[in-house]
Amino acid sequence: MQGKTVEIITIDGPVASGKGSVSAGVAKALGFHVLDSGSLYRLAALSCQREQVDPSDEKTVEAVALKLAPVFKDGRIYLQKEDVTEAIREESVGVMASKIATSKLLRKALFDLQRRFAQPPGLVADGRDMGSVVFPEAHLKIFLTASAESRAQRRFNQLKELGITSNINNLVSDLKERDKRDTERAVAPLKPAEGARVLDSSQLTLQQTIDKVLEWYHESRA
Ligand code: DC
Repeated sequence: MQGKTVEIITIDGPVASGKGSVSAGVAKALGFHVLDSGSLYRLAALSCQREQVDPSDEKTVEAVALKLAPVFKDGRIYLQKEDVTEAIREESVGVMASKIATSKLLRKALFDLQRRFAQPPGLVADGRDMGSVVFPEAHLKIFLTASAESRAQRRFNQLKELGITSNINNLVSDLKERDKRDTERAVAPLKPAEGARVLDSSQLTLQQTIDKVLEWYHESRA
């Protein structure tokens, strides 16, 4: 079985919990591949947006997703040779992604694409349902969380670095709203996978969070 030869660590958690940075740090330390599953939802959303697909038209959204052939190379993401790394991060694409992510058909269509990232020696997969649905055989499952306030503070700092002014109170209420939508949706709701270890990073730096995951990983292999 694939799970025996490819080491898999899943890191799921709410928006702005630092999943992406933690996954990248853990993967670098172990020499593993990384799957940012949110980027696949965003790629599907960008294609739907460009083809003017109605997000509630599940069949057409599914067809768009099944045609996706993204190329991940040197930290960049390409669709039909076009570099879409920045385009998929746009707010409108994120909104479209969260809408289409409620579709069971779309989630099924992206399933195989996600599974193909499991290549030796290992994979760190981040998202919402990596440990529960996509890689249930993972060796280590993490549910990374942090208080809405500390996640909002991190997002505030990131935006500031990009020269974007934001309001911390608005960020906190936006995060709480998204948490509610993510945890209450009918299909693959956000919740710790069975056997997942919950890591609250509210009081930890990025490096401390990465070190904790690495410690748990080594413990799980001992
Ligand atoms: O992590 P992100 O914000 O880039 O993800 C974009 C959207 O995709 C997000 O609104 C939720 C959805 N998503 C999901 O439903 N399941 C995943 N495994 C990853 C992302």
